[in-house]
Amino acid sequence: QVKIRRNTVPQIAARKGGEPIVSLTSYHAHTAAIVDKYADFILVGDSLGMVMHGMESTVGVPLDLMIMHGKAVVRGTEKALIVVDMPFGAYEESPGVAFRNAAKIMKETGCGAVKIEGGKRMAETITFLVERGIPVMAHIGLTPQSSHVMGGFKTQGREEDSWAAHEEDARVVAEAGAFAVVLEGMVEPLAAKITTQISIPTIGIGASADCDGQILVLEDMLGLNEWTPKFVKVYGDLGPAIERAVGQYAEEVKDRSFPGEDQVYR
Ligand code: KIV
Ligand code: NA
Repeated sequence: QVKIRRNTVPQIAARKGGEPIVSLTSYHAHTAAIVDKYADFILVGDSLGMVMHGMESTVGVPLDLMIMHGKAVVRGTEKALIVVDMPFGAYEESPGVAFRNAAKIMKETGCGAVKIEGGKRMAETITFLVERGIPVMAHIGLTPQSSHVMGGFKTQGREEDSWAAHEEDARVVAEAGAFAVVLEGMVEPLAAKITTQISIPTIGIGASADCDGQILVLEDMLGLNEWTPKFVKVYGDLGPAIERAVGQYAEEVKDRSFPGEDQVYR
């Protein structure tokens, strides 16, 4: 029996300028198994701190939590490349610290790549990791782990004189060896421009349809969150569907119609 091989990093990198790359986040075995049928890669994003654990930002997400969710997603999938976010504090200090923590993530989860936030400032670290066997996806534009410095979650590139810095970030992470780069929360023409300027795929979120791929947070596009940002298209209606189911269960427990004949052992 031939084991179905997962999508590889070179396969994703080769999609530059080709058929758009499909990706979503996933944090659990069961949702990941569904996403695996359609996604080229799945990101175990540190957004899980906010989405799954009620945190106010991603800054408090611990490494062990990323590893726990990373393991679940790898177990639940067989086809997609799994990329795990490195959480705040696990890579910024030095290339050596980044390597140690990235290697821990890869060894313990079985994922195929890690993602780190930051452009030019992370170039040395990206090269250090890639040369030692750890594929890196970069992430520039709006970088949520820096929200305390940026003063919140702000769309980038509104002033045209800020574009050059973002364009340089993109060029530098590509040259440093990143196999793809997430462009988050930047004005559409800037994301489109960057996409034409670099040789690695750009993955947009709140960016441009011209990006080489798109990513969304699964719970956002399924309608599980009360509030969604402008850049999210809500494809599903799971919040209200779950509420209806839970409400009906509560009623049936109270009126003793659950469990019914079919749910008891005679
Ligand atoms: O954590 C996350 O979900 C992400 C994506 C939004 C790109 O980094
Ligand atoms: Na993230």
